[in-house]
Amino acid sequence: MSRFSDKVAIITGGASGIGKKTAEMFVEQGGKVLIGDIDEDAGKIVSLEIAKKFGKDSVSYIYLDVSNPEHCKSAVDFAISEFGSINCLLNSAIKMAPGMLKDLSLKDWNTMVNIGLTGTFLMTQAAGRWMIENKTPGSIVNMSSIGGRQPYGMSGAYSTVKAAVIMLAEHFGIEWGGHNVRVNSICAGHTETPLTAYLKDPEIKKGRSEVTPLQRVAQPIDIANGILFLFSEEADYITATAIDIDGGITKSVMNHMPGRKWK
Ligand SMILES: NC(=O)c1ccc[n+]([C@@H]2O[C@H](COP(=O)([O-])OP(=O)(O)OC[C@H]3O[C@@H](n4cnc5c(N)ncnc54)[C@H](O)[C@@H]3O)[C@@H](O)[C@H]2O)c1
Repeated sequence: MSRFSDKVAIITGGASGIGKKTAEMFVEQGGKVLIGDIDEDAGKIVSLEIAKKFGKDSVSYIYLDVSNPEHCKSAVDFAISEFGSINCLLNSAIKMAPGMLKDLSLKDWNTMVNIGLTGTFLMTQAAGRWMIENKTPGSIVNMSSIGGRQPYGMSGAYSTVKAAVIMLAEHFGIEWGGHNVRVNSICAGHTETPLTAYLKDPEIKKGRSEVTPLQRVAQPIDIANGILFLFSEEADYITATAIDIDGGITKSVMNHMPGRKWK
């Protein structure tokens, strides 16, 4: 019996990076996955790759813009029609709109909020409603970030959204505890994905590795392992919380105080 046999996951932003790796590993470990993403080409390619390795019944793709409530509801309906159930949801979709708050346009602010926060709310509500109405225990994971814990340059909108999705998971988790629908967040550290293409610059990667207590940036598998743990029965008593998977960087600020030696 595989870890996720008979389990179905919807993964938003599943065409790339952390969502893609989680989709692959979920299916590898016996589950079925619906990839929802606005990037139709990449979504179909990832879906085909997974189907080739694990069989065409294990995966499907749907065009999904998480900021659109109708799309979110359709994604849930589609998962049910394809696979018959929903047990897990990963809210991974994001579109960056970096900038200093003083100069940030309302358009960029709204993009960040509509996809990162409202999209997370809409997908969680749509999937959770189905789980509750159908008495199906579930596990939902919001992708937050070290940015949701700490402010940093150009990240005023992103960090605000990532802090909010932590609270959103806490609220849903408390509200839905009696239905055995668990909702948690993961605060990921610097992870090499298409989103962080700047990590291809060896100087930036080296610098970020050196300030991380575990001395490296993360790979998507490091974050996917945590997501799959929260999806699994091993996490049956975990809800309404956030887990840092960041190589220790969030706790290391005092490490950088001049005059204090750690080594
Ligand atoms: N990579 C990192 O260093 C890092 C660190 C902390 C947190 N995170 C978070 O992890 C999550 C995944 O990040 P990633 O690095 O894998 O990013 P990524 O850019 O590789 O993937 C994001 C995916 O979201 C999709 N997307 C964008 N807008 C969408 C929409 N409206 N509806 C549906 N899909 C949409 C994109 O097409 C893309 O496939 C994000 O929430 C991000 O904030 C990433």
